[in-house]
Amino acid sequence: MPEITLSQSARHQRHGSNVGQPLTRRDGVLKVTGAAPYAADHHPTGMLYAVMAVAGIARGRVASLDVAAAKAHPGVVDVMTPAHKPKLAMDPDEKSNPFMFRLDLLQNDKVRYPRQPIAVVIAETLEAATEGATLLAPVYETQTARIGLDGERFVPPGVGVGNPPAVSHGDVEQGLKDAAKVTEAVYETPSQYHNAMEPHAIVAEWTEAGLVIDTPSQGMAMAQARIAGLFGIAPETIHIRSPFLGGGFGSKGLVAGPQVLGIMAAKLVGRPVKLVLRREQMYGPVGHRAPTRQTLRLGTDAGGRLTALDHHALTASSSFDDFFEPAADASHTLYAAKAIATAHEAVRTDTGTPLFMRAPGEATGSIALESAIDEAAFACGLDPLAFRLKNYAEVEPISGKPFSSKALRECYAQGAERFGWSTRPLAPRSMRDEAGFLVGWGVGTATFPALMFQAQARAIIRADGSGRMEIGAHDMGQGAWTALAQIAADGLGLDLDKVDFASGTSDLPDAGIAGGSAHTATAGMAIHNAGAAVIAKLADLATGDERSPLFGAGNQGVIAREGRLHRRDDESRSEAYPDILARAGLKQIEASGKAAADPAAQENYAMHAHGAVFAEVKVDPDLGQIRVNRLIGAFAAGRIINPHLVRSQYYGGMIWGISFALHEKAIIDRRSGRIMNGDLAEYHVPVNADVPHVEAILVDEHDPHVNALGIKGVGEIGITGSAGAIANAVWHATGIRCRRFPIGLEQLIGTA
Ligand code: MOS
Repeated sequence: MPEITLSQSARHQRHGSNVGQPLTRRDGVLKVTGAAPYAADHHPTGMLYAVMAVAGIARGRVASLDVAAAKAHPGVVDVMTPAHKPKLAMDPDEKSNPFMFRLDLLQNDKVRYPRQPIAVVIAETLEAATEGATLLAPVYETQTARIGLDGERFVPPGVGVGNPPAVSHGDVEQGLKDAAKVTEAVYETPSQYHNAMEPHAIVAEWTEAGLVIDTPSQGMAMAQARIAGLFGIAPETIHIRSPFLGGGFGSKGLVAGPQVLGIMAAKLVGRPVKLVLRREQMYGPVGHRAPTRQTLRLGTDAGGRLTALDHHALTASSSFDDFFEPAADASHTLYAAKAIATAHEAVRTDTGTPLFMRAPGEATGSIALESAIDEAAFACGLDPLAFRLKNYAEVEPISGKPFSSKALRECYAQGAERFGWSTRPLAPRSMRDEAGFLVGWGVGTATFPALMFQAQARAIIRADGSGRMEIGAHDMGQGAWTALAQIAADGLGLDLDKVDFASGTSDLPDAGIAGGSAHTATAGMAIHNAGAAVIAKLADLATGDERSPLFGAGNQGVIAREGRLHRRDDESRSEAYPDILARAGLKQIEASGKAAADPAAQENYAMHAHGAVFAEVKVDPDLGQIRVNRLIGAFAAGRIINPHLVRSQYYGGMIWGISFALHEKAIIDRRSGRIMNGDLAEYHVPVNADVPHVEAILVDEHDPHVNALGIKGVGEIGITGSAGAIANAVWHATGIRCRRFPIGLEQLIGTA
């Protein structure tokens, strides 16, 4: 398979230590010139186009489809339906682990949610396939759609992936009784959709060498395994290319039904097939963030210390699968309440199955928690930042474990200083700008667990002094091609321009999933270990050879730098990689490395990244229009591999925080259960005009426990503090506590 390796040097390349350098992303030129290949750019010879027909109802069955009309349309080659499709090796509704989501692959005529695929039209052109799909004119038997959060409740078996639905320490009811003040409030968050710029797409070709797929994936090895199971083929015969993603946000973490439909279509017609979701088809079969209704009860003593924190989250899942948004889990780590209880309940609705999305649990939970904390602070007459510091968790409250590192105090201090927080008046509605707009300042605490998955990498040093690092990692826009290559270069002891960094296909070693903000830590540690292993082999060659200036130094007695091994005790004695390999008569030397979370560290420490976000909003007192004016975040996330990219990650997260607080919401028609705003015109996300002055401060943090590189992860934390900070700023501006998100002007209008 052709592969992409990025071996050109970045513009800001500095020599020496690569990790920590603010390099420009190495794939930038490819992207801005349009040369970076995305899945839908592929066009193998003989390729056909597949277009999905999707359900226009939320619940019921497809009584009939006019397949004959679609087939009669010029250019249509075939129509895949429940009655006419390739046989699968397993039932798409079979599930043997929590990562195996049930898929809609035309297994029957049932409709379980709006925009569920009900047929696939395959044609010579996109236009013919599109027209063919409209000619199917489905007739439905419709049942009443179950929507909203008022249905019959049950306690889910687990939340997120396998977390217990209820967790507690101490006696919350007693804590509330003992409290001088109790604040209780209910917060609601809506269904949200991932809205990656690049829709899910697949180009699938069954060849003699196996199944070749171009599709965006945040986890190629998991996709391989899922596809292998469905088609009854060996995973290694499936070749997935996914060098770039136009955003994933969790929706491309697991292979989605429509991607499998593309593979089925290619099998059915015996030709390569391209299937690209239309924008509106992204609102249904590829996951979303579930809505929540969260009840928080906070008890505080006379001094403003939390005596109890009770967080109950009600959420919705689909009628047929089990992903439950772990919203209340956000209350496990941040505040040192004497007693904490978190619990979840759920209802079944006629929706596509929810999925991980942009800090699943933490984003939904923290907007409620951070609002509630703000309410409690005001009830106690305390500044919201002072209140947070008063309740600062020195150890993880529920587990009692020490933090592997926690520079949250520094985040609060640096963010507050930069923002000018100390002059904030306590009372709401006390600031106006010269134009008469109400001005408010709010703070939110950010947190996200430092996770790590399993991964492997292969490192090669060649006789010409160059190196190569192979890992099937995923760049979904976050900059993996660059950050991981920096770790690779340091691991190999080479300058970046001497390293071929091979990535983005499933034929390379498994890099684990690019999710949970864990990709840099996971893939990075595999790369680091592979580098160390190949250097160790090289050191063995040199230090065991009398002809080497390093003879007798021992494997631990040398260090690798700039293409040479140096004696630790006398750095003037060194030898270049090519000389070592040439003497040994080797063209190249290679070794593998692995990464996995360290169970001992996990047992002994709580590991989280932290941050503090400060927001200034302006609200039009007559019209209720809200503008975020300033957003300043200070984050501590262990070692920063590339400050340039990390800042960019934080900006992205913070902007999604603006989105959560003020924009995003899927609107469901109560009568039909259909999503009424399934497009980017009416499903609002922030555009440039909505994004104010944004700043991200990188707070120093050294973590000796989280992994050998000290990396925590930065992908999702930005959203977690920002949304709450904005909501709190809106309250501070107006004196109106909005507990239904997104906050719209209808909640504020005429408040002057
Ligand atoms: Mo993320 S929601 O872990 O891709």
